[in-house]
Amino acid sequence: MTMAMSIAQFTFFSRATSSSFLNRTNARFNRFTFSTPFSTADATCTRKKNGRLPVLSALELGGVKIARDDVVRDDPTNNVPDSIFSKLGMQLHKRNQHPIGILKNAIYEYFDANYSNKFDKFDDLCPLVSVKQNFDDVLVPADHISRSYNDTYYVDSQTVLRCHTSAHQAELLRDGHTHFLVTGDVYRRDSIDSTHYPVFHQVFVASHYLQPPNFFFLGFFLRFWSIHSYTLLLEMQMEGFRVFSPEEWEASGLDGTSYAAGDLKKCLEGLARHLFGAVEMRWIDAYFPFTNPSFELEIYFQEKWMEVLGCGVTEQEILRNNGQLDSVAWAFGLGLERLAMVLFDIPDIRLFWSNDERFTSQVQLIDNFTNKKGMTSHCYRIAYRSMECSLTDEEINELQRKVREQVETKLNVELR
Ligand code: DAH
Repeated sequence: MTMAMSIAQFTFFSRATSSSFLNRTNARFNRFTFSTPFSTADATCTRKKNGRLPVLSALELGGVKIARDDVVRDDPTNNVPDSIFSKLGMQLHKRNQHPIGILKNAIYEYFDANYSNKFDKFDDLCPLVSVKQNFDDVLVPADHISRSYNDTYYVDSQTVLRCHTSAHQAELLRDGHTHFLVTGDVYRRDSIDSTHYPVFHQVFVASHYLQPPNFFFLGFFLRFWSIHSYTLLLEMQMEGFRVFSPEEWEASGLDGTSYAAGDLKKCLEGLARHLFGAVEMRWIDAYFPFTNPSFELEIYFQEKWMEVLGCGVTEQEILRNNGQLDSVAWAFGLGLERLAMVLFDIPDIRLFWSNDERFTSQVQLIDNFTNKKGMTSHCYRIAYRSMECSLTDEEINELQRKVREQVETKLNVELR
């Protein structure tokens, strides 16, 4: 298969005080979207019929080498297909240019600035965990539906692909961590048909028939993937955890649980403001086996309330079982794609999951200077690529014209 690509450049001036994340003068992001359809792709492309990735033989995850045979086995308790194995090493959150990586770093910034670097960060913990870690340690009841083979990927009867980052709470507490953030990919198995959409449908990646390219977003050409009856569900999550010792709440006159709940809400509202500025949000009472009370935070986005995180005050039993006898704690788990959708105004969550390196890193800042008048000049190089067809000069010019137009209006910059 040949891939056509063309490179174009454009330069613009912006005031040095702009709050756009392109020049990162403060931590808040400007929201903007480029949605430039590749209108000609349909007519001229020979479409790739099978978008399946080659199956890798081994991966290095969390410092551990994992062979395909460690995950995909000919065993009655194994329900992990090759397509999942090939996603295990994607680690979107470790790519600094990817929306998920940008968001992770922005969240780190918030915690570092507000908690004097007290939060320990883990973003390389192996997604293969024991059933005990994934479920028992966080008090998921023995008969809970999430334990079923239909919902969870089992490597064998005692090992799963983690279905949430909460799976690491207990081990990190036992290791003595009291403030931590865990980022990673989580996996849920579910079916989807025309009448039923899975509850946790954060991300779909189906590996067959590619659709034509659809969106230009921040220089990433990403594409929709069609959905098949059994669909890989993987999501990027971040878990946060904070332990308080009695001195911390006693002076407040509140009981430990109320103190932790108040602190948790303040922390997460601050995080949402750090990322989005004045976004509308609301708290909903929720249930999680590992927290009590439990809440969900929703953000108003595209004329709907969207759930972005679950959180609560950690069950005492978890703290007690892991060496924290007199403490209270809060925890949260947030879906990075969902927050990134709001942040970058992305209309469809599936757009994040492109397996192809050629979709990413398509925008490069190649020149950056500030003149005497305090205007900053940025020159970006954009690689316009299509996996299916050769783009003509006219098509690229048209794309470039739209990009320039949108950059000018949405980023409030002066084109050069
Ligand atoms: N583990 C939950 C999930 O995957 C998210 C979550 C909710 C994490 C509440 C937490 C929490 O730490 O306290 O949906």
